[in-house]
Amino acid sequence: MATYPTKRLRRLRYNPLIRNMVRETILTKNDLIYPLFVVPGKGIKNPVKSMPGVYQLSIDNLIKECEEVVSLGIPAIILFGIPEHKDEKGSEAYDDNGIIQKAVREIKAKVKDLVVITDVCLCEYTSHGHCGLLNGEEILNDETVSLLAKEAISHAEAGADMIAPSDMMDGRVAAIRKSLDYKGFTNIPIISYAVKYSSGYYGPFRDAADSAPAFGDRRSHQMDIANRDEAIREAESDVEEGADIIMVKPAGPYLDIIRRVKDKFEMPTAAYQVSGEYSMIKAAAQNNWIDGERVMLESLISIKRAGADMILTYFAKDVAKWIDSNK
Ligand code: PBG
Ligand code: ZN
Repeated sequence: MATYPTKRLRRLRYNPLIRNMVRETILTKNDLIYPLFVVPGKGIKNPVKSMPGVYQLSIDNLIKECEEVVSLGIPAIILFGIPEHKDEKGSEAYDDNGIIQKAVREIKAKVKDLVVITDVCLCEYTSHGHCGLLNGEEILNDETVSLLAKEAISHAEAGADMIAPSDMMDGRVAAIRKSLDYKGFTNIPIISYAVKYSSGYYGPFRDAADSAPAFGDRRSHQMDIANRDEAIREAESDVEEGADIIMVKPAGPYLDIIRRVKDKFEMPTAAYQVSGEYSMIKAAAQNNWIDGERVMLESLISIKRAGADMILTYFAKDVAKWIDSNK
């Protein structure tokens, strides 16, 4: 093997044209999924304080936002709902007139060429902010799974194109797949939050979705941040149960997991660059401590380099605009 001075790695970094030729990872608009938050009411555009540039939108404004997303060339959104009423059982999650169901029907009626993914969980809809039904302080698994399947069906009936269970109950992918198929939604894919860690990086999201747990935490169902082999077992069970796309979340601090899951399962793999990852970059950029655009791109290219085929990111619109301005 050639060594220095014959071998000179700097040759291929000589100028931008050569660097472009040998670049291994490129972000495209097709990599992007944009998260949106929908609230009841009209004319509402509430800024989420901890997430500059992110808003809670009423359905009228959500439609405008979706039109902009399509015109920017972003193929998909994922919707989170803030309900009118919360209760112990998260009833609005699986109510045909719930906020998500209404929003999806409106989007599907008015916006073309947009893949609408819905997040399926109960934490935005329960009065206690937990992801499932409670017995005392325990989150019940199987009883919750039945409700999640109901929620998925009602999203599909409203017109959702893809279902994204984010709850981390055991067996939910199988239950959702079976229910979707039984109701004739055999062509609706499941993008499962397969490897979801119990992470501090979700903090700002809980402001955006008003979903902080009233007591305790999510450690009895979300994964321990220290674990790696368990991620394989989690992804494996979702794949066996019929997930079409598997997701790792958060993304940036878990690049090792993304790579391992991608190599092991050779499945379409998504990564969620979560609220805290976004807010940290935004905050540092606002202070001029970092170059915000550069770090945004670096964070996303790193996630893709690790093996993600698609990225859920609050930067989606910024990236699409950046791609347009660099043609
Ligand atoms: C709901 C859900 C959460 C996120 C996505 N779906 C919050 C949580 O699990 O506490 C987090 C997304 C983000 O932080 O951007 N289960
Ligand atoms: Zn939840």
